[in-house]
Amino acid sequence: MKLLNLEVSPNGENSSSRQASRHLLEKFEKDIPGISITTRDLNAHPIPHLTEAVVGAAFTPPDARTPDQQEAIKFSDELVDELLASDVIVISTPMWNFGLPSVLKAWVDHIVRAGRTFSFSSEGLKGLVPTKKVYVVVSSGGVFSEGPYAAYDHFVPSIRAILGFIGLTEVEIIRVEGTENPTTIADVLAAAKAKIDSLKLL
Ligand SMILES: Cc1cc2nc3c(=O)[nH]c(=O)nc-3n(C[C@H](O)[C@H](O)[C@H](O)COP(=O)(O)O)c2cc1C
Repeated sequence: MKLLNLEVSPNGENSSSRQASRHLLEKFEKDIPGISITTRDLNAHPIPHLTEAVVGAAFTPPDARTPDQQEAIKFSDELVDELLASDVIVISTPMWNFGLPSVLKAWVDHIVRAGRTFSFSSEGLKGLVPTKKVYVVVSSGGVFSEGPYAAYDHFVPSIRAILGFIGLTEVEIIRVEGTENPTTIADVLAAAKAKIDSLKLL
């Protein structure tokens, strides 16, 4: 069993999304002995934005690529291979400006790839990634699951649409929400950990 763990927050040990996802990873290790966890820390090792060379290579059939295009697409292919090789995915991230932090969006731009993770066919667009569970731990200063700011949540609809588009329709969202109030942050984190404890994994 291979778990791909993506971490986004720049806040290190103080990151609430990382603290909650750490709890989830510990549960995986406890419940599924021998699980292998690969961590890709997008803060420590940011994903480069797509360049003209990468986009050009992505839309050129592999056997028609020039040596430069083969070189340009290598890292993108590595990210796609890593995604396809995993049995389960964990993403922990803050909400930034109501949506995905740009480094997470950069990862998305690499892994949503025609011919590799989705296809155009006579029936239209089709996700090519075999179904696997994705756990998304998202931390936000405000509360978006309900209340006056619910309509501002462009994170959850966006990540669900992106993952669903490539075939990943089984997405469990774990919110760590309301971290902006220092007096309740411990409660907010405890609520997220309680939700994790209640999950039946996979
Ligand atoms: C650049 C930036 C943008 C942010 N945008 C939002 C936002 O749109 N909505 C919100 O509720 N909180 C926002 N926040 C607050 C973070 O989502 C919040 O502090 C979160 O708990 C951080 O998670 P972390 O501790 O895992 O990094 C933003 C913070 C930063 C630094």
